[in-house]
Amino acid sequence: MTQGNILCDIGFIGLGVMGKNLVLNLADNGFNIAAFDLSDEKVQEVIEQDRVENKTETPRVYGCSSYTELLSQLKAPHLIVLSVPAGAPVDQVCEKLIGAGIKPDDIVIDTGNSLWVDTVAREKQYKSNFLLFSSAVSGGEVGARFGPSLMPSGSPYAWTRIKPIWEAIAAKVDANTGKPIERSQPGQIISEGEPCAAYIGPAGAGHYVKMVHNGIEYADMQIICEAYHILYSGLGFSACEIADIFEQWNNGILDSYLMEISVEILRHKSVDTGTNLVDLILDKAGQKGTGLWTAMSSLEVGCPAPTIAQAVYARSISSFKELRTHASTILSGPESANLSNQEKQTYVLELHDAIYCAKICAYAQGFQLMKLASKEHSWTLDFASIAKIWRAGCIIRATFLQSITKAYERDNELDNLLLDSFFANELSERQQNWRKAVCGATMLGIPNGALSSALSYYDSIRCETLPANLLQAQRDFFGAHTFERVDKADGKKYHVQWSTPERETIVVGG
Ligand code: 6PG
Repeated sequence: MTQGNILCDIGFIGLGVMGKNLVLNLADNGFNIAAFDLSDEKVQEVIEQDRVENKTETPRVYGCSSYTELLSQLKAPHLIVLSVPAGAPVDQVCEKLIGAGIKPDDIVIDTGNSLWVDTVAREKQYKSNFLLFSSAVSGGEVGARFGPSLMPSGSPYAWTRIKPIWEAIAAKVDANTGKPIERSQPGQIISEGEPCAAYIGPAGAGHYVKMVHNGIEYADMQIICEAYHILYSGLGFSACEIADIFEQWNNGILDSYLMEISVEILRHKSVDTGTNLVDLILDKAGQKGTGLWTAMSSLEVGCPAPTIAQAVYARSISSFKELRTHASTILSGPESANLSNQEKQTYVLELHDAIYCAKICAYAQGFQLMKLASKEHSWTLDFASIAKIWRAGCIIRATFLQSITKAYERDNELDNLLLDSFFANELSERQQNWRKAVCGATMLGIPNGALSSALSYYDSIRCETLPANLLQAQRDFFGAHTFERVDKADGKKYHVQWSTPERETIVVGG
């Protein structure tokens, strides 16, 4: 119980990096939280941090030592937030809450990176025990503490109860400029601005949108890493010189959180060696799976997302360190290029445009994937609203999300972001430099799967005639899979009897 026996507003289970910071964000915004974790040490840590950061005399976070105690400390109907790893841990906590006496009108909010189909199943599975709602959270540790982007979905009733809380703790943007309103101090709250929290749709829709956010995040990160690799290994710039280039880019259309942190990372010196830490980090990437899920979903729904998939493959190929080390002694690359300083500066300008164009394509792939999934699952996603809540708080936050917001405000039914007049013009003006940058990286022997896959995606989308006519003929030749004919708009299917001398073409039906 709180002092004065006041019941808490919110129960919170899972006090890891994201959970602890969400609790402190909720506390800053005036909510009393009953907090539980399997590790009592984590409970004590968040209570202590609340005591240190709390600007009021009254504690805001109350530690619980059991699920039963947690439920007993909450106003009814209970509102309980989960911040636990995706998968079995979510179900384990749900079962524990059922055992502790959770009520059917209680609401449980899953804020982890759950696989969206699991969320759909859980809402059905637990509906007789409690109302499962979900809200993916993006923004990492700092975002959770001072303002994340929140992607809630599930029961509209549950959302009416959660909405004021979520809008209070979310990141905020200026309603006129779309620029983030910074918040970075404990106790500081922001009451003005548009919150980066908006109802996404039925159960699963929010986790799907977060999954695609992470797929775009993978692509965004890989594009920046390829630029770094080209500049570092291809052109011989140092980490600090690349930081200066990235910082200059971050002051323009490439302004983004990921570009900003890359500048800081590239300038960071190792405490024990005094040299650039990034040069000491092992080049084997980890991945928790959300990018993979996005790539898999794109294949399942038939949505081309090559740059997102390339970003996943890039992480996989980086994990084969021993193989790559061995292969480097066997497989040869191009002759080293002796570029002049002027040629290097010209290339830097070309690379800037390549990154911007590839980034547009990565977002176009993500938004088209959400469009196809929305249609398949009857979610009626609002893409302008999704772009809006990604303008601040989340990992992919960037100035150019304001341009995406405007594109979908102009037409929420856009078949593809590339066809929006603003982006079509941005790409047309820069595509020549993009081609030069991809060619340059290729001739330098630097892998550029994200930059080049995006270019091929762009060329495929804008290409009225693709070589699928020959592919159809190949399929018909060995598998009699038939083909349609452009000169016969009759919808009929044709097959050539390739194995007979006459090779007659026969009609096999409409
Ligand atoms: C976010 C991040 C976060 C992500 C981790 C690890 O939006 O805050 O996307 O949800 O899961 O950063 O992701 P990977 O291990 O898959 O890179």
